[in-house]
Amino acid sequence: MIAFTPVQAMELAQVLEQLKVRPLTASLGAEISNVDLSKGVDERTFDAIYQALLRYQVLLFGPVELPPGRQVEFARRFGEVQIHVMNQYHAAAHPELYRLSNLDAQGNPTGRHPDKGTLAWHTDGSWQRRTAQVTIIYGEIVPERDGETHFCDMYGAYDRLSPEWKERIAGMRAVHNLDFSRTRRHGEQPMTDEQRAAVPPVDQPIVRTHPDTRRKCLYLGDHAEYIVGMPYEEGRALIDELNALAVQPDLIYEHRWTPGQLIVWDNRCVMHRATDYDPATQRRVVRRCTVLGEVPQ
Ligand SMILES: [Fe+2]
Repeated sequence: MIAFTPVQAMELAQVLEQLKVRPLTASLGAEISNVDLSKGVDERTFDAIYQALLRYQVLLFGPVELPPGRQVEFARRFGEVQIHVMNQYHAAAHPELYRLSNLDAQGNPTGRHPDKGTLAWHTDGSWQRRTAQVTIIYGEIVPERDGETHFCDMYGAYDRLSPEWKERIAGMRAVHNLDFSRTRRHGEQPMTDEQRAAVPPVDQPIVRTHPDTRRKCLYLGDHAEYIVGMPYEEGRALIDELNALAVQPDLIYEHRWTPGQLIVWDNRCVMHRATDYDPATQRRVVRRCTVLGEVPQ
């Protein structure tokens, strides 16, 4: 993980200034207006971007014309890029990109939503042992209305829990299972046996400590199925209750897309969801690249 001495931190403060960082809400999200991702970023600029991400959790760039290869290149700066198990979403020539489109080969809306699982609050890759670090999403074509992306600050969600809640969930683990969430939200297109076998359920702490900031955050979302050592239905109810407690309006940034924008978020301390749109009349094509992180502690 990237660590900085105080002197470097001071230099980075200057670079942050150069990046022209504009906070989007009081709790999370910032727009970076002085970086052209289509030209690539040097080491110093990347360090500043990463520091900004640790501070703001969600970063907005663009609009910029960004070819798929450039997006993957940028993602590789953060770490090892994930090749998603749901291979039907891989972009042509770029398996690192997970492409969500409601268009047919002629570019007309099909009327089908490509992944309804994205409509529930979740954190990417919580269903694998090494969970996702960042996700980098680029809006190629975005709906004229609806189809927003929302982000929730999970540091804030944890901080606001009562001492009783914090005590109750300390040390508790939840089992995350992509097959559970996929079937629940998108049952008409279930995972294949092969996909299911590749990603067996894994248990993760409900409260995790961010490896860089060392702050605690709530770590649940829609892939969390049940609680280790608790009767199934009781665990389900607890997960639902905590997920609902987390999403308080002043901890949320709601993003309305402009074509060509790119958003990076830190899955270790953020939950996100897409909002619905009419897939019969609106067009939406986004490509997503996820970088693997660490085993949550
Ligand atoms: Fe997601």
